[in-house]
Formats: sequence, C-alpha cells, structure tokens
Amino acid sequence: MSTLLHIDASPRGERSVSRQLTHDFASAWKQAHPDGVFGVPMHNFSVPAPFKAYIDQVVRVGRTFAVDESGYKGLLHGKSATVITSSGGAYRSGSPFAPYNYQEPWIRAVLGLIGVTEVEFVVADGLSEVEFSKRDREQYLKPIREQVQRAALAA
Ligand SMILES: Cc1cc2nc3c(=O)[nH]c(=O)nc-3n(C[C@H](O)[C@H](O)[C@H](O)COP(=O)(O)O)c2cc1C
Repeated sequence: MSTLLHIDASPRGERSVSRQLTHDFASAWKQAHPDGVFGVPMHNFSVPAPFKAYIDQVVRVGRTFAVDESGYKGLLHGKSATVITSSGGAYRSGSPFAPYNYQEPWIRAVLGLIGVTEVEFVVADGLSEVEFSKRDREQYLKPIREQVQRAALAA
C-alpha cells in the first residue's frame, strides 16, 4: 500500500490557505498515488524556518545525493511531489516582484538535488487581498482547489 508524505509548514492552523489546500490534495489522493505533498507559505521571500529545518534533515551527501566533478546526482529515484505554495504578494515571472521569489526556485533546487525532479507547483498567491477581506476566500480559492484536485489525480 502506498503512503503519502504530507508536510505542512504553515504555523497558522485553521486560517492557513496552504493547509486547506494540502488537505484537499490528501483527500483526492485516496484516488491516486503521488509520493508527497508539501504546503509551503512564503516567509520573507523564502520558506518557513521549520520547512528549511526539515529539508536540512533530508538532504545528506551519500544518502540522498552524491556529488562529483560532473555535478550533483540525486539518489532518490521515481519519486514525485506536489508543492502548494501560498503568499501574500504575487511573484510571477515577468512581474517586478519576481526577483524576490526565493521560494519556488529554492524548493525546485533542493528537491532536484535529491532526485525529485517530477515536481508540480500549485500557487496560491496574492492572498493579502483575502487576508484583508478585499476578496472572498472561498471564491478566490475555487479555481486553485480545482487545480489541487487535478494535481492529486494526475500525479
Ligand atoms: C513571518 C511571515 C513572513 C511573511 N513573508 C511574506 C513574504 O515575504 N512575501 C509574501 O508575499 N507574503 C509573506 N507572508 C504572508 C504569507 O505568505 C501569507 O499570509 C500566506 O497566506 C500564509 O500561508 P498560509 O495561509 O498557508 O499560512 C509572510 C507571513 C509571515 C507570517
């Protein structure tokens, strides 16, 4: 029987968007079998400290990655992951805020380092408008929750 690695990095409990979306993912996962789902809010343009601490436990030379003169080699094979990110602002490519996004590129780099190259991102950004009640949370999340369902079933 397959198991799902389910990591939530948001400290915001029931108010958390990324926790709500990983919960959606885990429910849909019962019909599929990807290897991992990560809910990772943006904190100061990067990831929350507990998520960094988790990664620091997982990334180990000789165990999850190797290195030689030709570069890094991931030692995990055939693993896939879905990463659900949330942020108050929006950092999409082409926007003036894009250069501040150290979240998605860093997550791609560390997962790729250990060999998890099949990674799908679901991005819940611009959430400050929801937080400050300028947009209705459920209305805003509807298309993103649909994307989470598709990601869980396709993985
Ligand atoms: C300590 C802290 C740092 C944050 N830093 C950023 C940031 O750099 N950029 C941003 O767009 N949002 C930032 N935010 C806002 C969160 O990314 C946003 O509220 C997100 O919805 C939180 O995810 P969650 O709902 O899953 O908890 C920060 C929030 C906290 C608590």
